[in-house]
Amino acid sequence: MTKIPAFGLGTFRLQGQVVIDSVRNGLELGYRAIDTAQIYGNEAEIGEAIAASAVRRDELFLTTKIWVDNYAPDKLVPSLEESLRKLRTDYVDLTLIHWPAPGNGVPLETFMTALAGAKEKGLTRQIGVSNFNIALTRQAIAAVGKDAIATNQVELSPYLQNRELVAFLQREGIHVTSYMTLAYGKVLGDPVIGAIAQRHQATPAQVVLAWALQLGYSVIPSSTKRENLASNLLAQTLRLSEDDMAQIAALERNGREVSPDGLAPQWD
Ligand SMILES: NC(=O)c1ccc[n+]([C@@H]2O[C@H](COP(=O)([O-])OP(=O)(O)OC[C@H]3O[C@@H](n4cnc5c(N)ncnc54)[C@H](OP(=O)(O)O)[C@@H]3O)[C@@H](O)[C@H]2O)c1
Repeated sequence: MTKIPAFGLGTFRLQGQVVIDSVRNGLELGYRAIDTAQIYGNEAEIGEAIAASAVRRDELFLTTKIWVDNYAPDKLVPSLEESLRKLRTDYVDLTLIHWPAPGNGVPLETFMTALAGAKEKGLTRQIGVSNFNIALTRQAIAAVGKDAIATNQVELSPYLQNRELVAFLQREGIHVTSYMTLAYGKVLGDPVIGAIAQRHQATPAQVVLAWALQLGYSVIPSSTKRENLASNLLAQTLRLSEDDMAQIAALERNGREVSPDGLAPQWD
């Protein structure tokens, strides 16, 4: 069975010196997993920040995601090799198909097989998917086998709990990674979260991250601020009560933040 770190550093939207500083701060504070993607346009800066740090490659867990333009078998491996060059490494720990992009011309079975080929070549230790619904995850399983799919990285926050998909993934033994766990900051002003935070003398972000961790999901929150990066990490030591968990469960409102036309599937 594969293993995905419970806590990582997100880098979406972060560019140039901002991402360099975020990764440098994160590594100094103890983050060892970094989540990027070809489309984020920051792999080279992340590679630069890692190279400038004292952290050894084998202590790190690097994730990248193949962009939809690179799903054809003759493009997928070269695009991943380009990501490795930018990240200044020989392999990444995890490579995900970024979006299912139905109708982009490359059949799912073809790009999943190409991704499995990249793993066989040693370019990535594990492979997985992102933004896949139940039906597409089933197709990915049919293409490469469920043991080959380390995770499905999906939007998941207290406002979008994705219960059907999560139940399916857990039945299949596929790990859940929650992205935008903080709903890009939107859940942090929620009064229910605020009251729980006050009771535990914690921050709202710590409460939300602890909630996701307690449900068994990996999280990859991003921040441009060193103090937020530091306090978010401490979510790992916060223990929420059953009542806290039930109150957060009740916040579900199908609050999806991300659903790009042409890339997103029909959500469950
Ligand atoms: N697979 C996909 O399609 C996909 C899509 C979206 C995202 N992702 C991944 O998931 C990661 C996380 O998502 P995200 O970065 O969009 O959103 P997020 O982690 O839910 O939220 C980040 C926002 O929350 C703020 N924040 C973080 N910690 C805070 C704290 N302790 N107190 C107050 N505000 C805080 C940050 O502002 P400050 O900078 O001011 O702290 C930033 O504005 C991304 O970076 C990316 O790696 C993947």
